[in-house]
Amino acid sequence: MFKNPIRTKSWANLLDHFKLIKNIKMIDLFKKNKNRFKDFSLNFNNNILFDYSKNRIIDKTIDLFIDLLNEINFKDYVVSMLNGEKINFTENKFVLNFLLRDINNIFVKNNSSFFDIKKDIDTNLNKIKFFVDKINNYSWLGFSKKKIKNIVNIGIGGSDLGSRMIIKSLSLYKYNKFQKNFFVSNIDSTDIINILNKISPEDTIFIICSKSFTTLETLFNANIAKKWVLDFFGNKKDCLNNHFILVSSNFSEAIKFGVNSNNIFIVDDWVGGRYSFCSAFGLPIAISIGFDNFRKMLHGANDMDIHFFNSDYKFNIPIILSILTIWYSNFFNFSNEAILVYNENLSLLPLYLQQLFMESNGKYVDYNGNYINNYYTSPIIFGGTGTVSQHSFYQLLHQGTYIIPCDFFIEVNNNSNNINNSNLKLASNLLSQSQSLAFGDRVFKNRKDNVFLNNSNLFRFVKFKGNRPNNVFLIKKIDPYSIGAIISMYEHKVFTHGVILNISSFDQWGVELGKKLFNYIYPCLKYKNYIQKKIYFDSSTYNLIKYFNKNS
Ligand code: F6P
Repeated sequence: MFKNPIRTKSWANLLDHFKLIKNIKMIDLFKKNKNRFKDFSLNFNNNILFDYSKNRIIDKTIDLFIDLLNEINFKDYVVSMLNGEKINFTENKFVLNFLLRDINNIFVKNNSSFFDIKKDIDTNLNKIKFFVDKINNYSWLGFSKKKIKNIVNIGIGGSDLGSRMIIKSLSLYKYNKFQKNFFVSNIDSTDIINILNKISPEDTIFIICSKSFTTLETLFNANIAKKWVLDFFGNKKDCLNNHFILVSSNFSEAIKFGVNSNNIFIVDDWVGGRYSFCSAFGLPIAISIGFDNFRKMLHGANDMDIHFFNSDYKFNIPIILSILTIWYSNFFNFSNEAILVYNENLSLLPLYLQQLFMESNGKYVDYNGNYINNYYTSPIIFGGTGTVSQHSFYQLLHQGTYIIPCDFFIEVNNNSNNINNSNLKLASNLLSQSQSLAFGDRVFKNRKDNVFLNNSNLFRFVKFKGNRPNNVFLIKKIDPYSIGAIISMYEHKVFTHGVILNISSFDQWGVELGKKLFNYIYPCLKYKNYIQKKIYFDSSTYNLIKYFNKNS
C-alpha cells in the first residue's frame, strides 16, 4: 500500500510535464485563458474564496497529480482514517480529529465502532460547556470568593498555540469583556513572571494543558503558578481546586498535581497535540468566545472535514493545496512557503501552521522505514502580517533568488476595526502584492507607465520579474465558523501531503533527542564542573559549558 511517490508512473509523467511548464509565465497563462480565475478558484460554503489561479500550473498539472493520487490509492488512506485504523503506526494510535467536531454525528453514523468514542467526546463537550458557563457567568469563584477575571493557559506547542492563535483571531468574539487571557509557555521564567506581575491569584484561574503531563516547560511553569497561589492563600491545599484546571491524557500524572479529579479534563490519547483545538485543549478558547461560539468553530471544522472527505479531488481545497506544495517543493525546488495575513487578529496563524506543518511532515523517514533521500518533505513555513512584513522580508519575496510561494489571507467584511478605510487599504495592499508577485512589472500594459523602469538607469535593480506563485484566501468574516474551517483545511492539507510523500504525519520523534540530552547537560551547568561521561562531549559543547560555568 505504501509507495515511494517518485517511483510511480504518475511522478514520471509529472516530471515530463514539469519540463514544459517550468519556463511558462503566469501572465501568458492568464492571457491565453480568460476563464483562468473561474477555472482555478473554489468557494467553500460561500464563506471562503480560494483563488489559486496565480500558480504555475495548468489543468493538466492537476490532472496528473490526480493520477498520482489514484496510483498511490489515496482513497484507501482516507478510508483507513475514517475506519479508525491506527494510521499513526509509530505510536500505535488512530487519528480521529474529525470525530471531535462531528457535531451532527455524520461520521459516527457511518461507523458504529466510533459510537463509544463519540459518547466520550460528547460527555467531554458537556463538561466543557459546564465549566465555561460557570466561569463566564461568574458562578465559579476564586478561593476568596472573587469572580474569575484572568484565564492563564500554561502549555507549550500544541497545548498552547491553538488556543493562543484562535483566541487572538477571535478577539472580537470575546464573551466576557472583563476577562483577560494570558499564555505562559517558555521555560524562561520571564514569561510567567511578566504575567504574574500583572494579576492577582484571587481572580485568576490557571488552565494547565499538557497531553503527556511530563513536559518540562509546562510542569516548571505550573509549579511556579501553584506555589504562587498556595503562598497567597497561606498554603491551604483546597485553594488549588478554585484556581487550577488541568487538561491531559495522562490522568495518573495529572492527579499528582493536587486538584480534584473533577478539575481534570481527560483527552483521548489519540488526539495529537497540534490537532487538538477541538478537544478539551480548546477549553481556553471556549471560555474566551463562549460555548455557543465554540460549537460554531467545531461546525466550521466539521464542514471542512465533510468537504475534504466528500469532494472530488479536483474541487477539494486541502487536496489542491497539498498538490501545490508538492509541485513547488519537489519539482521547482522551492523550499519555503509564506503565510501572509492581512488582519492583525490573525497574526499568530503563521506560527500555528509552522508547528502543524513542520512537526507533522518534517520527516526524513518514509512510511516503510526507509530514509528519504530523493525528494523533499515539509517545506519551511514562515510568515507574518501584512502590511508590516511588506517593510521587512517582502524584498526577498519579490527579488530574492529563492522563490517562495505564498498564502495570502484577508477578511472581506471587517467592519469592526475599520477606521478610515483601513480594511480597504489592507485589501488593496494584499491584492497589489499578490498581483506584483505573480506578474512583476508586466502588470503595466504600457512600459511608459512604469516610472521605475523609465526613469532609471538602474534597469535590473528596479525590475520585477514576477512569476512568483501565490494563493489568495478571501474570508467573508473571520468568525468562529471560518476559523474552524481554515484550521481543518490545513490539517487535511498536511494529511494529504504526508500521504502523497509516504510519510507518517502524526508522530514527532524529532523532538525527543534534545529533550533527552537536556538531562545530561543541565547537571553540568547546575553543579558547575560536573562533566558527563555517558554522552559524547564534543569540544564545542564542552568548551561552551566551561565558558558558561566560568562566567555565570
Ligand atoms: O515536544 C513536542 C511536543 O510533544 C508537541 O508535539 C506537543 O504539542 C508539545 O510538545 C506539548 O506536549 P504536551 O502537551 O504533552 O505537554
